[in-house]
Amino acid sequence: MPILKIITRPNPILRKKSVEINLAEIKSRGFKKLVSDMAKTMLKTDGVGLAAPQIGKSIRLAVINSKDGVFCLINPKFIKKSWARELGQEGCLSIPGVFGQVKRHKKISLTYYNQAGKKIKLAADGMMARVIQHEIDHLDGILFIDKAVEVEKKEIYG
Ligand code: CO
Repeated sequence: MPILKIITRPNPILRKKSVEINLAEIKSRGFKKLVSDMAKTMLKTDGVGLAAPQIGKSIRLAVINSKDGVFCLINPKFIKKSWARELGQEGCLSIPGVFGQVKRHKKISLTYYNQAGKKIKLAADGMMARVIQHEIDHLDGILFIDKAVEVEKKEIYG
């Protein structure tokens, strides 16, 4: 099972703004393999989301592990973010062992392209809204520790 190497802080790739994906590329074999390898990597590492910069590619792509299965966000754009925000704990595969409380918009709506190149409109709240905001931040070079109000480092044993 191919597992991609996850880049960790302070690798400067994590701080770059990612570029939009040319929609003509989505149907290529290489792109499909990239999405599938990212999904496998996310599942193997128990992640709830993985953004392309975390595997060294500065492109606007992320995979998300939702209760309905894995889906990918291509060129996501927020349409709306609720005024209401809430604190919740976050961690990141690129910052192992570190957790923090981050304030996120409670509800969001966005558009993105799926793997078939179809434009999708999605509304999300709760955990899914949090994960999507975390992953889109990655595409803009932002890490959760930039926004966290309390950051703690936990030793990972085993
Ligand atoms: Co992350």
